[in-house]
Amino acid sequence: CGIVGYIGHRNAWDVIIKGLHRLEYRGYDSAGVALMNHDLKIYKKTGKVSELEGFAKDKDVSGAIGMGHTRWATHGIPSDYNSHPHTSGDGRLSIIHNGIIENYAVLKEALKQKGHVFESDTDTEVLVHFIEEIQKANKIDLCEAVRVALHEVVGAYAIVVMSKDEPDVLIAARKGSPMVIGVGQDEYFIASDASPIVEYTKNVIYLKDSQIAYIKRDELVIKGIDNRVVSPYIQELALELEMLEKGGYDHFMLKEIYEQPRSIRDCMRGRIYPNEGKVQLGGIKDYADKLKNIDRIIIVACGTSWHAGLVGEYLIEEYARIPVEVEYASEFRYRNPIISEKDIVIAISQSGETADTMAAIELAKERGATIFGICNVAGSSIPRISDAGVYTHAGPEIGVASTKAFTAQVTVLTLMAFFMAQQRGTIKESALVSLLTELDSIPDLVDKCLKADNHIIEIATALKDSSNCLFLGRGSGFPVALEGALKLKEISYIHAEGYPAAEMKHGPIALIDAEMPVIVIATRNSSYEKVISNIQEVKARKGIVIAIVTEGDKEVRKMADYVIEIPDANEAFLPLLATIPLQLLSYHIAVMRGCNVDQPRNLAKSVTVE
Ligand code: G6P
Repeated sequence: CGIVGYIGHRNAWDVIIKGLHRLEYRGYDSAGVALMNHDLKIYKKTGKVSELEGFAKDKDVSGAIGMGHTRWATHGIPSDYNSHPHTSGDGRLSIIHNGIIENYAVLKEALKQKGHVFESDTDTEVLVHFIEEIQKANKIDLCEAVRVALHEVVGAYAIVVMSKDEPDVLIAARKGSPMVIGVGQDEYFIASDASPIVEYTKNVIYLKDSQIAYIKRDELVIKGIDNRVVSPYIQELALELEMLEKGGYDHFMLKEIYEQPRSIRDCMRGRIYPNEGKVQLGGIKDYADKLKNIDRIIIVACGTSWHAGLVGEYLIEEYARIPVEVEYASEFRYRNPIISEKDIVIAISQSGETADTMAAIELAKERGATIFGICNVAGSSIPRISDAGVYTHAGPEIGVASTKAFTAQVTVLTLMAFFMAQQRGTIKESALVSLLTELDSIPDLVDKCLKADNHIIEIATALKDSSNCLFLGRGSGFPVALEGALKLKEISYIHAEGYPAAEMKHGPIALIDAEMPVIVIATRNSSYEKVISNIQEVKARKGIVIAIVTEGDKEVRKMADYVIEIPDANEAFLPLLATIPLQLLSYHIAVMRGCNVDQPRNLAKSVTVE
């Protein structure tokens, strides 16, 4: 969900609505705004920001102070009454909140005993009633009441609070959920990421955990919840406005798919030296010695990032000869995992904010492991809590379904595998020279993969009405199959599964009939012959085979219903290439089915709840 706040001399409604549109990519199901103009006015609505705009069309939206929110339901169904902002019992205070108040049930019960009546099912409403109660009992100002209240709160939050009694003040606070303050000339902006702010100012302050900001038009005080005032660190945003716009493409997702030759190149820039056979990763170079002696690497991640982790496992084991385990962050943290000081945990996250991944890191840290982060969003939480790391530099990814962030993650993992191999002496310099030379040409080969787009549209037309789809791959092609299936189900709502090709005969084969499309990664590499046998098994049961093949392939072409060619490359780089046609295929199928490609239903870009 998203937060936007404004205080200054502009029309707050306009700034907030525009900001909420910029945050739409994060995924949400309802939206609301609170404005201060003599009185506190609140407008909220289930559905898109544009529906909220329609609802408020004939209403008073004047005022130069306000806050807005897009909600992704956790406690309570998406509805008008569960939407934010929420107000206190006496209607004086208003709050917006990202995250989860874990002890809300206990607080709610205690407040009910004191006579509080609640209108929604949310944990957020409990928090604003709690702040009201504290303020009444102690006769303190809003900032102090928020500070005292937060001492009692267990959970993650980014909040903004307003009060009728202090109509020229916004209070913002965070713990475990991001919050950025934009600093303008006699105006301040607040947002859950920098995208709503960048068109007004490039000077920003990233609020840290357990900090509270007291904000007036011309005054900003930041303190810890321990009441100690801190001097704000203002930094300059590297973000450009055009990075947040579609630039002529129909959807952000398509733009981001097409950006991949550039994003992969940016990710490698300054890190590979093909002629010398060297990889330099400044972010982890201090751990070169540790890498020589480690027993094991554990990769933790969620969703698409977890798929990148599986590619990483393949590459690190192949080249650096270190055993790797890849774990869903959410599963890892709720076990009693065996971790030692000799382990390195690599956390992969596009947003750098995923709650489960953060919690997995905390656990691994407690047990003494070294943490490397692989993140896309600079300054996000995971890089901050990691010991070291490598940014993916893919630029802002707006489409909820991850595309360029995935290939950038895979690129970083490829670089890491080579870097580790180089440190451990498990690769010859000459081998590294040829691998890096080839890696250097991958952006051009990705560009070639994109050229198949028109042919992929034809295939999408044939597949668009399917209700199921199977994706098969072996070796490093297996995570590609998983990612292909995830993309398709996320954005087109077609049920899709990724499987190791050889495992098909142990179950999914039962599903195959003339209606079942089976997408097979069948490039010419070590498992080529085996995959051909799998294709035959599918054809024997009349399945529709769509094969991703190496340029010039003749054999698979004879058996498959459709083939998509990708350039020939070392097996290590197969995931970077084979992923591209699968992204395009999902995209076109989803568009043909009339789906909201950039903001698929029920999904959020950044999942800051557990
Ligand atoms: C959400 C997104 C996915 C993403 C996953 C992990 O579910 O919709 O696209 O892969 O979170 O996010 P992260 O930011 O940690 O990579």
